[in-house]
Amino acid sequence: MAVRQDTIWERFLSPVVRLLIDEEGLRRYADSIDWEKESDRFRREDVIMPPYYISQNFHGITGGYLKSSAAVTYDPITQYVLPPNETIVRQALIDAIKVQPRRILDLGCGTGSTTLMLKQAFPEAEVIGLDLSPYMLVRAEDKARTAGLDIVWRHGNAEKTGFSDASFDLVTASLLFHETPNAVSQTILRESFRLLVVGGQVLILDGNQKTLRQLDWLNDVFEEPYIREYAAGNIDASMGAAGFEAVRTQDVWWTNQVTSGVKPIPAKDTTIQKNVTRYSVTSRDNTIDNNDLEGLESPAFGVMA
Ligand SMILES: C[S@@+](CC[C@H](N)C(=O)[O-])C[C@H]1O[C@@H](n2cnc3c(N)ncnc32)[C@H](O)[C@@H]1O
Repeated sequence: MAVRQDTIWERFLSPVVRLLIDEEGLRRYADSIDWEKESDRFRREDVIMPPYYISQNFHGITGGYLKSSAAVTYDPITQYVLPPNETIVRQALIDAIKVQPRRILDLGCGTGSTTLMLKQAFPEAEVIGLDLSPYMLVRAEDKARTAGLDIVWRHGNAEKTGFSDASFDLVTASLLFHETPNAVSQTILRESFRLLVVGGQVLILDGNQKTLRQLDWLNDVFEEPYIREYAAGNIDASMGAAGFEAVRTQDVWWTNQVTSGVKPIPAKDTTIQKNVTRYSVTSRDNTIDNNDLEGLESPAFGVMA
């Protein structure tokens, strides 16, 4: 798809944001990293790039996220497009966590802004950030190192992560679903369901679908090839279709929303139901490959107040 030069972003907002951004500082940062060498540390040959991801530009960047420039410019711009404040919006996802997770997977983690907050909120948990772009992972790793946070960064596709069944207590995705076709979002929700232990929670933070439908012009602000499709959809319904229960969407200001769902206890599985009541936090899985929580006594969480 050709880059649209006539978006509101290109015409009005980009010049304003450029005034606010320290472009010289960004250039220095970009030049300080050997992006190809660093991204090669993450790149996995078995990761196949899905067509929707490589056939479109995102945010006016030709090549989308498979460019170091995407990783360098993402944070400086994102801080201005999440009103009233980026941290407040991301904190809404953290505040919606109802489990005490030992193992957390952040899908489409990008430069890791939410992933870092997850690790800060649950320092004892093993936190993994997964993304299709090895360049975004380079930036994420750098941020985690600066913050002194031990997070695992993994190159992968959220549709098919390769992790074992029931190996996470919490699966999150922030600002991912407005960038994926609805069919892909549905596949990611089904994958999240598979990855969660019974009683585990999924949380999706993204643009407010109601607002995006009512204010259609907002969809023209950025070059977001799938945002209209996202706005027309319904994350609650998609979560229900993936098998989640206790599905709830909460507005985060008028611009964003966070949707929560829980993997239900199978009605007839009395063993699991018995173990739920016996649960206590006793162990933590420390290795990325030994990631099967199914053998543990119970859902790997305690419900928080
Ligand atoms: C808008 S960014 C959001 C990044 C981050 N979660 C945040 O909140 O700032 C979307 C990210 O999703 C990644 N992505 C898109 N499709 C993906 C998929 N199928 N699997 C994994 N990552 C994906 C992109 O590479 C990009 O880093």
